[in-house]
Amino acid sequence: MLDEIVARVPEFAGPVELTVIKGGLSHRVVRVDAGGRRFVLRVLDPAVTEAGLGVSMDQEIANTVLAAETGAGPRVLRVLPDQHALVLEYVDGVTLSAADVPCRLEGIAAACRRLHSGRPFGNEFDIFDKLAEFLALCDRHGLGLPDGYAEQLPLVARIREALSARPLPRVPCHNDLLAENFIADGDRVRIVDYQLSGQNDPCFELGDIAAEALLDVDGVTRLAAAYFGAALTDQLLARVRLYLTMSNVTWTLWFRVHSGLLGGRAAADFDYAAEAAAKWGRALSDLGDRGLGELLDTVRR
Ligand SMILES: Nc1ncnc2c1ncn2[C@@H]1O[C@H](COP(=O)(O)OP(=O)(O)O)[C@@H](O)[C@H]1O
Ligand SMILES: [Mg+2]
Repeated sequence: MLDEIVARVPEFAGPVELTVIKGGLSHRVVRVDAGGRRFVLRVLDPAVTEAGLGVSMDQEIANTVLAAETGAGPRVLRVLPDQHALVLEYVDGVTLSAADVPCRLEGIAAACRRLHSGRPFGNEFDIFDKLAEFLALCDRHGLGLPDGYAEQLPLVARIREALSARPLPRVPCHNDLLAENFIADGDRVRIVDYQLSGQNDPCFELGDIAAEALLDVDGVTRLAAAYFGAALTDQLLARVRLYLTMSNVTWTLWFRVHSGLLGGRAAADFDYAAEAAAKWGRALSDLGDRGLGELLDTVRR
C-alpha cells in the first residue's frame, strides 16, 4: 500500500528509503529519502475520521495547504487526494516534548500568530461541540464515562455560557497543540499535524497548549503574554485558563473513544488509560478550584 503510493509520486523517482517516524498516535507518517532530498509522506487513516477523532480528510488536506501558506506549517509539495496522502517539506529540526515548551514560549506564540493570521479554514471547531460529540459516541458505543464525569457537566455548561458572553473572532486554529506537533527549526517553531484544525477562538489554542505542556498559572500567563503582547487583559487570560480546563475535560474522552473504537490500532508503547486518567485528574482539580468562579466572572465582564 505504501509502496503503491510512493510509486505515484514523481519526486520519489529512483531509489527511495522509507523510515517510519514514531511519535504519532494516528495516521502514517514516513520520512522519505529520495534523489538526495528528504520529504515527509503523511497518509491519512479514514478510521480516524470515521471514529470522530479528526476533521474530514479533505478538510485536513485543505487546512494543511492553508497553514503552509503562512509558513507555520510545512510546505505541501504534493497532494494525492485518492490516496488521502500528502507529500510535505521535511522540517529539519527538533520535535518538542512537553518539558521543552516553557523555554520556547516566544517561538510557539509567534508560530501561532502566523497560523492564526492566515486565510480562514473552511470548517469550524468548538471544544464544547467536540465534547458533545464524544459524549454521544461514548453513549452510543457503551464506552462509559470516567468516575464523576457526568456530575461535572452542569459546571461545564456554565463555563460555555460564560465564554460565549463576549465571543472573540474565530481564526484558523490547530486545536491539538501537544508539544510533539511543534518542531523547532533553529529559533523558529513550525507546526505539523492538522487533524483537528478549524476556525476557533485563539484562546482555546493557548489554553490547549498549556494543558498539554502542563504549564502552571505562571506558565500560562507567560504564554498568553507572549501571544497577545501589550493587548493581554485579565479577560483574555481568564479565557485561556478556562479553555485549558476544557482541553483536559474534553481530551479525556478522546482517549476513551480512541481505545474504545480504534483499540486494535493503538500504539503499543502508549498507555491510553493512564493518559486519560491524568487529564481527568487535572480537569477535576481545576473544576473544583476556588478561583473558578472568579474566572467565570472575569470573562463575562
Ligand atoms: N513535515 C515534517 N517534517 C519533519 N518531521 C515531521 C513532519 N511531520 C511530522 N513529523 C514528525 O512526525 C511526528 C508525527 O507526525 P504527526 O503529523 O504529528 O502525526 P500524528 O497525526 O500521528 O500525530 C511529529 O511529532 C514529528 O516528529
Ligand atoms: Mg501529531
